[in-house]
Amino acid sequence: MENTAPVRKKRVLSLIQPTSVPTIGNYFGALKNWKNMSEEYDCIYGVADLHALTVHPEPALLRKQSQEMFALMLAIGLDPEKSIVFFQSHVHTHSELAWILNCYTQYGEASRMTQFKDKSQKHADNVNVGLFDYPVLMAADILIYQADFVPVGADQKQHLELARDIADRFNTRHGSTFTLPEPFIGKVGAKIASLQDPTQKMSKSDTNPRASVSLLDPPDAIVKKFKSAVTDSEACVRYAEGKDGINNLMSIYSCCTGKGFDEIEKEFDGKGYGDFKLAVAQAVVDEFKPVQEEYAKLINDKAYLNECAKKGAEAALKLTYRTLSKVQKKVGLYQL
Ligand code: TRP
Repeated sequence: MENTAPVRKKRVLSLIQPTSVPTIGNYFGALKNWKNMSEEYDCIYGVADLHALTVHPEPALLRKQSQEMFALMLAIGLDPEKSIVFFQSHVHTHSELAWILNCYTQYGEASRMTQFKDKSQKHADNVNVGLFDYPVLMAADILIYQADFVPVGADQKQHLELARDIADRFNTRHGSTFTLPEPFIGKVGAKIASLQDPTQKMSKSDTNPRASVSLLDPPDAIVKKFKSAVTDSEACVRYAEGKDGINNLMSIYSCCTGKGFDEIEKEFDGKGYGDFKLAVAQAVVDEFKPVQEEYAKLINDKAYLNECAKKGAEAALKLTYRTLSKVQKKVGLYQL
């Protein structure tokens, strides 16, 4: 007999902090993959505004940047009809599950998170409990949806492993409850380097504004930044060890055009770095253009943004109640 049961698509979940406009690295490393994955998987994407509170942002700025991030997620092409797109703080079930998961997380393992150690060193004046608990809320974000895959940067891999450990511990104690999530680490885009120091990852918080290109930089700024990108003195466009600057530009060009490194080497054979840098800049400008145009429309349409956010939150709540009530029952909370 024919099997007519619908096959459940695998579920993908990821959140992004609204702390600033994503760089080209975040775009190719995360956001663009989010969009690509939304065809094949059931996708759930959120603005991690609760996580952002750990660094005490200015309230007005957090509100503004959260809205901007949400608009940007729609602008890159996430379809709120097909995927669930939401603000973390609108889905209270995440925080409720996080409390329960706190009780299944050991102080020792949370203390070993390298991001916590780094951040507490960098911001020694504000080592709050939220910062310590950050990975547990992240585990709740993931586990509450029974996500199969979590696209994350390499820096979040340890947090994902913690989420798996917590899930496994809970399942062992209370019987199968959570899906164990797998990381989904993007390819080349995840490793885009600073334009000024190509041995370092491109970071939005770099103090040198020419080091990073943001998704909303106007075309002339993008061109300027690429023109001043640090390269080497060989004057030959080829991918090789020790040519970090050129390798990085080649990766960016490859991400934009889909061309392989061999093809790029041929294309720029006999040409100087000046030409190459301009071509990379133009490819980035072209890649960002439709996103920037869509963003400009969306950011002024608050009614539409709110409608999408409301729809996302409602769908997320519906899904997450299932897991939360199962967990509440299993741990022995009195049910009405
Ligand atoms: N901590 C992640 C980051 O800074 C953001 C995040 C929060 C997240 N919750 C998540 C990522 C759940 C993946 C899944 O990049």
